[in-house]
Amino acid sequence: MTVPPPIVAPSILAADFARLAEEVRAVEGAADWLHVDVMDNHFVPNLTIGLPVVQSLRAATQIPFDVHLMITDPRRWAPGYADAGAYNVTFHAEACDDPVALAKDLRSAGAKAGLAIDRDTPIEPYLELLPSFDTLLIMTIKAGFGGQRFIPQLLEKVRAARRHVDSGHLELRIEVDGGIAADTIEQAAAAGADAFVAGTAVYGAADPAEAVRRLRGLAERAVAGA
Ligand code: DX5
Ligand code: ZN
Repeated sequence: MTVPPPIVAPSILAADFARLAEEVRAVEGAADWLHVDVMDNHFVPNLTIGLPVVQSLRAATQIPFDVHLMITDPRRWAPGYADAGAYNVTFHAEACDDPVALAKDLRSAGAKAGLAIDRDTPIEPYLELLPSFDTLLIMTIKAGFGGQRFIPQLLEKVRAARRHVDSGHLELRIEVDGGIAADTIEQAAAAGADAFVAGTAVYGAADPAEAVRRLRGLAERAVAGA
C-alpha cells in the first residue's frame, strides 16, 4: 500500500457557528484542510451554510478549504465554491448524472475535484471514473448530521478504492468522513484512507489543535505498523 502522509480535516459542522472565524483559527497551523459541510435541506434533511459564509471565511484563514457539498444539482452550484477559492470541492455521486463533466468544470475553475459516496451507494460503478478526480470521499456514516456512530463495515469500500488506486497508480486522496475519532481513525488508516474528516473529535475537545495532532499521529502509526 502506497499512502502519502495523512491529511486531517476538522469539520466546522461541530464548531460554534456564532464564532466561526475564531474556531477556524483554533486549528490554524495544525489542520491540513478545513472541512466545510454544505447541506441544502433537499439532498439531506439538514441545512447548514452556503456560499456567502464560505466567501467570508475564506478571508479569515490560510487553511485550504475542503468543501463537502451535500446538495442537489451540484452542477449549478459547485463551480461557485471553486471560484470562491476552495482548494477541493466534493459533490455526491448520488446527486449528479455526469460526475466527470462536473469534475472537469471544477478543475478548470482552479479547484481539486472530489467525488463523495454515501453510506448506501456501492463504490464499484465509480472506480473507473477516478482518474477524473483528486479526492474520493467515502462516508463512514449516512451523510447529513455530525456526531453519528462510525460504521466499520463501510471500510470495505475504502479497501476496494485503495486497491484500485494503487494498482492504477492514481494520484487520489481517499478521504473518510463520519465518526472519525481516536478510537476509529486507526482502522480507517489501515484500510487505506489517507485523509480524515473529524468534527466532534476536534471541536468537542478542550484543545482542538491538539486533537488534530493526536489524530494525525494515530493515523501515521496505523499505516507504519500495517
Ligand atoms: C456529516 C458530515 C461530516 C460531519 C462529521 O454528513 O459530512 O463531515 O461533520 O462529523 P463527526 O466527525 O462528528 O462524525
Ligand atoms: Zn462532511
